[in-house]
Amino acid sequence: MSTILSPLRGVILAGGKGTRLGELTRVTNKHLLPVGPYPMVYHPLKKMIGAGIRDILLVSGTEHMGDFVELFGSGKDHGCRLTYRVQDEAGGIAQALGLAELFCQGARSLVILGDNIFEDSLSEFARHAEKHPNDAQVMLKEVTDPQRYGVAELKDGVVVDIEEKPENPKSNLAVAGIYLYPPDVFEVVRTLRPSGRGELEITDVNNHYLRQGRMRSHTLAGYWTDAGTLPSLHHANELVRVAMPAF
Ligand code: G1P
Repeated sequence: MSTILSPLRGVILAGGKGTRLGELTRVTNKHLLPVGPYPMVYHPLKKMIGAGIRDILLVSGTEHMGDFVELFGSGKDHGCRLTYRVQDEAGGIAQALGLAELFCQGARSLVILGDNIFEDSLSEFARHAEKHPNDAQVMLKEVTDPQRYGVAELKDGVVVDIEEKPENPKSNLAVAGIYLYPPDVFEVVRTLRPSGRGELEITDVNNHYLRQGRMRSHTLAGYWTDAGTLPSLHHANELVRVAMPAF
């Protein structure tokens, strides 16, 4: 018997204090800073819409939620339906994701960190989710500074572990902030305990699926960067200047 899957739901995580950007985030949210001709958060939003996702939740803190609402409204100008959810205090990416449970209504979710800027289309990634609805998926990208990221350890080409910001990375493959989760991700989030930096880590969610043998990975072909530090924000602007992704 074939089951009809509910459409993927999109979740954009745009909270946090953005302290690594110093004075730039004193009065505004990191995700509203410019990357090319758009505020940063446009990039993940457009990628979701490009992958056919129409119901999208944006999670941010209280301070700047009004700015996001002013920027995007209901989403109708962008061809999507936007919902907003407040993260009262910054408690980590996985904690922010936990706030999406009601919104996802038992559907699978495509989650993107609002400061991830990348070239690849997510259509294929989303199609893959149709084939493996009970598995989680992550995107990998080779980087020169893996210590800044979640880093994948591979055996025979398969991811066997992910370490968050390791001092001695086991590879140069960063886990990008682009994730696909099955509906039980919220149960996984409930089992998490804060890490050494006091946050619920998305890497712990991913390792849970790895241990269950329910994790798939893909490598991003085009450019990818986060934009959460001064050098990476500059780099993101350079990348977009040279090759603006097709929205
Ligand atoms: C977060 C994740 C990390 C991931 C990165 C991608 O790091 O914790 O695993 O590799 O996003 O952008 P953060 O931006 O919180 O340092």
